[in-house]
Amino acid sequence: MQPLIRKYIPKTEKDIIGQDDVVKQLKKFILNFRNEKKNSALIYGPSGTGKTGSVYAIANEIGFEVIEVNASDFRNAEQINQKVGNAIKQQSLFAKGKIILVDEIDGLSGHEDRGGIQAITKLIEDSAFPIILTATNPFDNKFSSLRGKSNLIEFKQLGYLSIFQILKSICDNEKIKYDEDVLKALSRRGGGDARAAINDLQTLTQAKKELTKESLEELADRNKTDSIMTALNKVFKTTDLKIAISAFDSVEEDLNEQLLWIDENLPKEYTKPEELAKAYDMLSKADVFNRRIRRWQHYRFLIYINALITAGIASAKKEKHKNLVEYKPTGRILKLWWAKQKSLKKKAIAGKIAEKTHASQKDILKSTMPYLPIMFKNKEMRGNIISQLDLNDEEVGWLKQAK
Ligand SMILES: Nc1ncnc2c1ncn2[C@@H]1O[C@H](COP(=O)(O)OP(=O)(O)OP(=O)(O)O)[C@@H](O)[C@H]1O
Ligand SMILES: [Mg+2]
Repeated sequence: MQPLIRKYIPKTEKDIIGQDDVVKQLKKFILNFRNEKKNSALIYGPSGTGKTGSVYAIANEIGFEVIEVNASDFRNAEQINQKVGNAIKQQSLFAKGKIILVDEIDGLSGHEDRGGIQAITKLIEDSAFPIILTATNPFDNKFSSLRGKSNLIEFKQLGYLSIFQILKSICDNEKIKYDEDVLKALSRRGGGDARAAINDLQTLTQAKKELTKESLEELADRNKTDSIMTALNKVFKTTDLKIAISAFDSVEEDLNEQLLWIDENLPKEYTKPEELAKAYDMLSKADVFNRRIRRWQHYRFLIYINALITAGIASAKKEKHKNLVEYKPTGRILKLWWAKQKSLKKKAIAGKIAEKTHASQKDILKSTMPYLPIMFKNKEMRGNIISQLDLNDEEVGWLKQAK
């Protein structure tokens, strides 16, 4: 069965839900391109909100051709010339209109890609057709010149009612049975990401064309927060080191996330200054070991880290804590930062494979990256992958923990 997100790619403007103003803005830019001061539009916003989809839907509606270029095609000026070449040159008045789409410029990484950013800048200056760039975070310093040359168009996170509308129309069309409340609950889960919500819907209704309350609850169960809360509770409340030491054993979050959770919640629990200082001291030692692991792959340090963040933190207090504290997920900024670090590494590796195989980074992300961690488990292949792709330690570290 084909993925629903593919089947329901927006085909006209009307199919794009909850982004009316920005879609209008984008369309106006494309149609009035000749009178615009700036040759390009930079559309940005969270994942799964319709950025790429809008470009294609508008193009489809006004009969323009989309020439899609991937950020990884911009390794050097020659490559981009090959790819876009004549497409950007002025053609006869009656030829079909064109849009050049450079999707996901986030994939360009800092200084090694300076050539790439310059190539895009040049493309913007030379093009006889509108250029559209997309990004999830355009406010990185490396994009400052591109920002200056582009009209900025922001796609906002989708409200749950918009997601609901999208899911409802898919359900009706696919003849999936649902209860409105359950569908609404599902719409609230994805954090305003329509792609994630549609994927959830597909997972839940694959076996049976019905969205039930039970299946939704099952999905919620997979939500891991509960187990980390229990783990924090153990470490923060107890003075019994034996209880503390195994606290994180069944926690699914990776170590970096565990450290962030502790960091976020420690001050709420440890209110006596000396105890708080001692506990933070343990945490910062754990963080030092963690960085050594990442740098030198000294995995045996994991055992020290675990001791520090469990028994270490537990022993920082003199008495059991009995007060009731509500633990919160890690700060949003930190979370975003981690997510970004992870996706950057993934994208960087995909970029390297793309270069070697002459494929696009986007295709590699979809076709190869899901399997790479599995291949990487094989010792022999691992060596080959590292040397062929010239992976750095951080990328190796990422691949090791990727699932
Ligand atoms: N506003 C929307 N209205 C209707 N469907 C949407 C909307 N946004 C996303 N979708 C659905 O999610 C899928 C992915 O959307 P799209 O590729 O446009 O996201 P994006 O904003 O480009 O995300 P990314 O930053 O991850 O590339 C679409 O195929 C469509 O099914
Ligand atoms: Mg996109």
